[in-house]
Amino acid sequence: MMRGMADESEETEDLISKKLLAGNRAWVERQLSQDSSYFDKLAQGQHPHSLWIGCADSRVPANVITGTSSGDIFVHRNIANVVVHDDLNMLSVLQYAVEVLEVQHVIVCGHYGCGGVAAALGHQNLGLINKWLRYIKDVYRLNAVELEKYTDPKKVERRLVELNVIEGVHNLAKTSIIQRAWVRRAGPLLHGWVYDLSDGLLRDLGVNMSDTGHLEAIYKYDIDD
Ligand code: CO
Repeated sequence: MMRGMADESEETEDLISKKLLAGNRAWVERQLSQDSSYFDKLAQGQHPHSLWIGCADSRVPANVITGTSSGDIFVHRNIANVVVHDDLNMLSVLQYAVEVLEVQHVIVCGHYGCGGVAAALGHQNLGLINKWLRYIKDVYRLNAVELEKYTDPKKVERRLVELNVIEGVHNLAKTSIIQRAWVRRAGPLLHGWVYDLSDGLLRDLGVNMSDTGHLEAIYKYDIDD
């Protein structure tokens, strides 16, 4: 909404931003009341144990749903938690997390009820977003034999959410960043999880990978060091 278009909405927008800033101050006070050196410690550096690659959906905040705190998880989020090898943003986050922060876990987390996956199953022309959702349409095509067995469209959507996560985990394993880390330091462990908005629970899809054992040979690199 453009500024000055409607006084009423401007007021509402203003109220929201004021609430956010007030919420921040209240949070700072709460943290300091529990640990007076909370911010001093965080300001010294970060040592997150995990990298989270999740959906940008406002209902799936990594720290909140895992009961973790600032400093615990390095986070990358995009529409429908897509992991593809030509996404410079994701690859930069991955390289930094794996090579500099040396995270022990990389988690790709999807969620049922994902608007991105639902849109990828549809045929609406969404302009630029088409290009992003095409990756999920490709996951559909790769798994069409299974998906077209289901008669319930909700089942198709839920399974495509899972398959998109599984594809993402495999795409991580195909990167030289992950393969080099596996040779150098026997980590990180890759996980594929799905979050259920209706009960708040995370489910492990059982696609854990810690070496190239389950990767098609064509994707394996010769890693010297
Ligand atoms: Co989503």
